Amino acid sequence: MEDDTQQRYLAAKRTVDDRALNRPVLDALTPELGSAGHIVEVGAGIGTMLQRLVEWDRLRVTDDVTYTLVDVDRQSLATATRRLPAWARDRGWGVASDGTADRTPTGSGDGYEPIETIHLDTGRGTLTVRAVPADAVAFLATGEPDVVIGCAFLDLLREPAVDDLFSRLPTGCVCYFPITFDGGTVFEPPASPGFDELVTERYHEDMRRRADPGDPHAGRRLLSRAARDHELLAAGASDWVVAPGLDGAAPDAYPGDEAFFLRHIVRTVHGALADDPAVDDAAVDAWVERRLDDIDAGRLVYLAHQLDVLLRVGRD
Ligand SMILES: C[S@@+](CC[C@H](N)C(=O)[O-])C[C@H]1O[C@@H](n2cnc3c(N)ncnc32)[C@H](O)[C@@H]1O
Repeated sequence: MEDDTQQRYLAAKRTVDDRALNRPVLDALTPELGSAGHIVEVGAGIGTMLQRLVEWDRLRVTDDVTYTLVDVDRQSLATATRRLPAWARDRGWGVASDGTADRTPTGSGDGYEPIETIHLDTGRGTLTVRAVPADAVAFLATGEPDVVIGCAFLDLLREPAVDDLFSRLPTGCVCYFPITFDGGTVFEPPASPGFDELVTERYHEDMRRRADPGDPHAGRRLLSRAARDHELLAAGASDWVVAPGLDGAAPDAYPGDEAFFLRHIVRTVHGALADDPAVDDAAVDAWVERRLDDIDAGRLVYLAHQLDVLLRVGRD
């Protein structure tokens, strides 16, 4: 288990996303991955989406495929390049690393220098994984990816940045943006009548206020953008549903590391409300303590409304 908070949060999020991801959208993505030579994942974190796509037999490496992990957070990318070789060996794949020096990556031609490039020999093809520290929008101005993936990512950008991102993508490029937040947050059971609603309202307002992040209604905006400007291939809800007893956990326990995931969410809400004059600091502190107690006792239920969208850039 990763010790660092952000990386451990992303690892803990894996099982929550596994339950949430919209399967028909994933089904529609699968054939697109089959014909892709270069896949770019923006805001890739510690690389759990790549692992999932392979483990779920969605990305079948029967030829040479380059998968570029792009993130502004070098520490998450370092975690990805530490995790992926061990994971690949467990699958019986061969592993070779170029270390830090790879200025001529396979099929990318973007000029970015990865912190590491790993070649995974699957027996039927080579999966070249590049970990590139870069801003997603700037990176997408380079190269011509066949598929762009961004999980739990687009809601971190403001609308002009999303415009910018799409303007850089080649016509025909397939985009998969799952777990895009769409403005619904629920904590149960009620902690304090009226105050729970105020907390979630101000949490969403904080997303709007801050330069980065983001957009509490990114999901619906992406969906209408896809229908208006592009070819919408598939879309569906991917709500996070976290509750004790799920996935075979004991009735008062959470699956995997999801108690940590919940604490991270509650602390994120706390941070969002810290400088908000519309809420009383002492009341927020008490609410946070109550929610942390709920997690310890295995009684907190948390829901977040999100959308998965698959589109092809441009129209015929
Ligand atoms: C909520 S995390 C999701 C990570 C990963 N996609 C997952 O689902 O586990 C968002 C990620 O986007 C990265 N990020 C935020 N803004 C970015 C930007 N402008 N360009 C590239 N990465 C960015 C963060 O560092 C973080 O790793």
